[in-house]
Amino acid sequence: MPRRTFGVVAAAVLLAGSVTACGNSDTGEGAGDGKLVLGFSQVGAESGWRTANTNSIKEAAVEAGVELKFDDAQQKQENQIKAIRNYIQQKVDVIAFSPVVESGWDTVLKEAKDAGIPVILTDRAVDSADKSLYKTFLGSDFVKEGRLSGEWLIENKKDATGDVNIVELQGTTGSAPANDRKKGFAEAIAADPKLKVIASQSGDFTRAGGKQVMEQFLKAHSKIDVLFAHNDDMGLGALEAITAAGKVPGQDITIITIDAVKDGMQALADGKFNFIAECSPLLGPQLMELAKKVHAGEEVPARIETEETTFTQEQAKEALPNRKY
Ligand code: AHR
Repeated sequence: MPRRTFGVVAAAVLLAGSVTACGNSDTGEGAGDGKLVLGFSQVGAESGWRTANTNSIKEAAVEAGVELKFDDAQQKQENQIKAIRNYIQQKVDVIAFSPVVESGWDTVLKEAKDAGIPVILTDRAVDSADKSLYKTFLGSDFVKEGRLSGEWLIENKKDATGDVNIVELQGTTGSAPANDRKKGFAEAIAADPKLKVIASQSGDFTRAGGKQVMEQFLKAHSKIDVLFAHNDDMGLGALEAITAAGKVPGQDITIITIDAVKDGMQALADGKFNFIAECSPLLGPQLMELAKKVHAGEEVPARIETEETTFTQEQAKEALPNRKY
């Protein structure tokens, strides 16, 4: 294709699309066609959950007629801060982001507030004391997910004799889901003194991280009865380490994870995982609705919790054929 023709086609594609950037910082100007412009900073692409979340947001933007400016921060807070500052400079209508970690957002959130741009938190929370820095937080109750996992374990191990040794694969250090799932799980299992967490380390929510840390756990501890992984991907990575160590996942080691993405549900249906607490990534449609409301100056609830459930092996077999992500 001649270079000029290619340039014209590329420009037409950019103008027609609702999603104006993907993967890197977007420095383009606003839509200028009456559409609401939403600047979104995504954590990264660390897990199956995250991919489903990104797809949900992009699809919902198209559906809602919202011009979406999208940035992938590659799990780095500095990249998210940079993206938010770019969105402020571009004078987008609304900013939304899923904060990689909980702390350290006050300055940039204040900059958005001073610029008169409303901010929506999705998926993960921040620990800012000043709640006026953002309009609402849409996402899961991570403490509850950890608690439900712990409660299932208590029931599952109620007849066990002697100590039940648990290893824990934590999510990204300092992130809300890692902090909260750890807390909820610890609070629940405290009801049964034979349940003991003998090792707990971050696998950064990735398969590679889960595999690597599980290999270390298996080397360091001869008796591991339970793995609690803060997401499916780390659990799936750990499966490889467990099998390589000559153990049968789901039998020699009871495995509990969080998310319920398709690959996790398949492992559960296949008997390799034992229990999953769901965390829904399908936040796109609600986010678009909220963006329109806050832009119109409407009041929105300060906290909107996602509806979720839990799955046993039998329930996973039933749910799998209709699983959307
Ligand atoms: O914040 C949600 C968590 O982030 C998901 O449980 C995990 O898979 C993702 O990376």
